[in-house]
Amino acid sequence: MAFATTLTFSALGDHRGGLIAIEQYKSVPFDIKRVYFIFDTKKGVERGFHAHKTLHQAAVCVHGSCRILMDKGCDKEMVTLNRPDIGLLIPPMIWHEVRDFSKGCVLLVLASDLYDEGDYIRDYKQFLSSLAAMTKANSLIAS
Ligand code: TYD
Repeated sequence: MAFATTLTFSALGDHRGGLIAIEQYKSVPFDIKRVYFIFDTKKGVERGFHAHKTLHQAAVCVHGSCRILMDKGCDKEMVTLNRPDIGLLIPPMIWHEVRDFSKGCVLLVLASDLYDEGDYIRDYKQFLSSLAAMTKANSLIAS
């Protein structure tokens, strides 16, 4: 079942061309503390293959297209990004893999915090066991 959340940004373009502005809390539901972009990706490259413990991100393909596999452990969804006015929310504890970059693709990512390698889970088995531990803790709190 689809679980990924996309955001639609207001297009402010006019006869001169396109313009999209992205503001924290107005366009994305978090503080924007870091911006990075992935470009000039070589043919066949796949990136990501990690989840974040606490980081919130929004990914926007500002040029070209790519596909992002979103994996929440019990369910997976493949999302195609190919419009500069559509962003994909990547919340914490979502394993994500980015692939099928088109030639010239520029993937812009807005992040809720500064870079911190300690926030990454780069091992899929560890991702699943962290999810299981969180689910168990939540069910203990609820009972
Ligand atoms: P990495 O997270 O492995 O990229 P991806 O998940 O897209 O495949 O990042 C590659 C390298 O860049 C790694 O050494 C960490 C570094 N890096 C930063 O220093 N700051 C950043 O904001 C990001 C995203 C990566």
